[in-house]
Amino acid sequence: MCGIVGYIGPKDAYPILIKGLQRLEYRGYDSAGVALLADGSLNVYKKKGKVSDLEGEAAGKDVTGHLGIGHTRWATHGPPSDKNSHPHISNNGEIALIHNGIIENYSALKEALKDRGFVFHSDTDTEVLVNLIQDVKDQENTNLEDAVRIALNQVIGAYAICVFEVDNPSVIVTAKMGSPLVIGVGEGEYFVASDATPFLEYTKDAVYLEDGEMATINLNSGLSLRTIVDNKTIDPYIQQLQLDLASIEKGGYEHFMLKEIYEQPKAIYDTFRGRLLPDQHMIKMGGLFEYKDRFLNANRIIIVGCGTSWHAGLVGEYLFEDLARIPVEVEYASEFRYRNPVITDKDVVIAISQSGETADTLAAIKLAKQQGAMIFGICNVVGSSIARETHAGAYTHAGPEIGVASTKAFTAQVTVLALLSIEIAKMKGTLTESRYQQLLEELHGIPNKIEYMLQSDSKVKAISEKYKDAQNCLYLGRGFNFPVALEGALKLKEISYIHAEGYPAAEMKHGPIALIDENMPVFVIAPKNGQYDKIVSNIQEVKARNGKIIAIVSEGDKEIAEMADFTLEIPDSSEAFSPLLTTIPLQLLSYHIAVMRGCNVDQPRNLAKSVTVE
Ligand code: AGP
Repeated sequence: MCGIVGYIGPKDAYPILIKGLQRLEYRGYDSAGVALLADGSLNVYKKKGKVSDLEGEAAGKDVTGHLGIGHTRWATHGPPSDKNSHPHISNNGEIALIHNGIIENYSALKEALKDRGFVFHSDTDTEVLVNLIQDVKDQENTNLEDAVRIALNQVIGAYAICVFEVDNPSVIVTAKMGSPLVIGVGEGEYFVASDATPFLEYTKDAVYLEDGEMATINLNSGLSLRTIVDNKTIDPYIQQLQLDLASIEKGGYEHFMLKEIYEQPKAIYDTFRGRLLPDQHMIKMGGLFEYKDRFLNANRIIIVGCGTSWHAGLVGEYLFEDLARIPVEVEYASEFRYRNPVITDKDVVIAISQSGETADTLAAIKLAKQQGAMIFGICNVVGSSIARETHAGAYTHAGPEIGVASTKAFTAQVTVLALLSIEIAKMKGTLTESRYQQLLEELHGIPNKIEYMLQSDSKVKAISEKYKDAQNCLYLGRGFNFPVALEGALKLKEISYIHAEGYPAAEMKHGPIALIDENMPVFVIAPKNGQYDKIVSNIQEVKARNGKIIAIVSEGDKEIAEMADFTLEIPDSSEAFSPLLTTIPLQLLSYHIAVMRGCNVDQPRNLAKSVTVE
């Protein structure tokens, strides 16, 4: 929900912080700020708005210093404003802190601090924490790291924090509970951030803190880790990151979202590489084989996720039930975690999350794990909190997804679900050998089909022009493409701010058809393989009420072409794999409409890439 970044070392901190914040802006962009320490002087610049607004605020001022912290915010406690922006400074002006997360008991802590004479200048929970640290430090007459640890033991909630004090220019203290945090270990320099993108060009040596851990970074004595609760020393595990700088830059595209739409052939190929082996007539997935008995003996599979990941889960439901004949439930993680679900050790829970940090999904699997279920993760970020919480999993190898609107992660998630369902179906004997081989070969050919479809982008753009001023849109699909209708609607509304709804096409007669008139564009997903005659009837029902039809059809389809106002063609495929194809034109359509409407495609209003709070 917010991005944090810190630096301590021989370089000037400010440019590192600013570039780091720009890379973390996808995590929240309501306000931004930095705190810099230079020769005993603490300089703080913070501003409502984007990182570019912060740069304007700091222009011409003293931005020197080799120690600094920076923050880009997605507002939780207190509206976006200059005063609520981070960093926050303790009453005595000695301690600077940035925070990603939520402190649930901040009100009680704030009242107690007020009783001891503290005053507050913002509405935030974070300002309470920095003053609590000061209070503990004064009361216990201890050093910063101990004060941080003691204070955090009074805190209930989620946090990833960075703290430093004016009198100690060689030290940064950082701590993690429920929000992501990684330390970059350089040559005589250290970086702290919400993810590794701010320090990739400086070092690939990284230490991911676990929940309940804190680190003291001391330029003189190095990095030391300990547990927050019982102050136990931990040996830091330094891992080599596989990310590269090119993967987090735009690469010549106008927006990250467009780049990531075009990366989908590679993202899908990288996701099945080494796993999908048609020539050897097999699929190899370590995480699956280690727990295959749990899948084979499962009473049901519960798929939990949020947003686009939840839509991928819905495709997974059709895949598993159609191919492997295993009952599947797909749950919004936020509902699942609170509805007192019945879970047993005969359940397999699949958690789907691009970021691997979504708070509701993480909480849902912790609940399921406690009640005996086997947890299988499908995440796009190695070492993420959800990935670390699962018993097993299969990473999507889509590469960093920076655009807030998820695109390549969706198709990569569906690819993993296809691999899983096909292999489990084979193990269960619900797939003949020939059908198994045919699916392997067809899935292997999907990247080329998407590559081919991307060549029709200009046609999609022309159609987008016709509908960029629509007020409302309807998306209809059946079978495997009902989830794609939901996903298409989400893409449009979250980046163009046009209201859109996805529906099972047959459901339209039970209410939404009342909405149909000449001002209502209806996007219908109608490939040949998948209740084709039924969806043709649905199209005719819309036409009879003057609705505008934009149909996603199989190549060469003439029947629907005569009914629809516009058609966009996809190559032929099994219904099971059609979501990997039908979603492409809908992603492009949303992208072009949003650009034509002048929306901020990569950082839509009110949104953040990773929802690490409830
Ligand atoms: C997708 O376009 C959205 N940005 C959002 O719904 C996202 O899919 C959701 O927040 C889940 O995120 P996750 O996959 O990182 O868990």
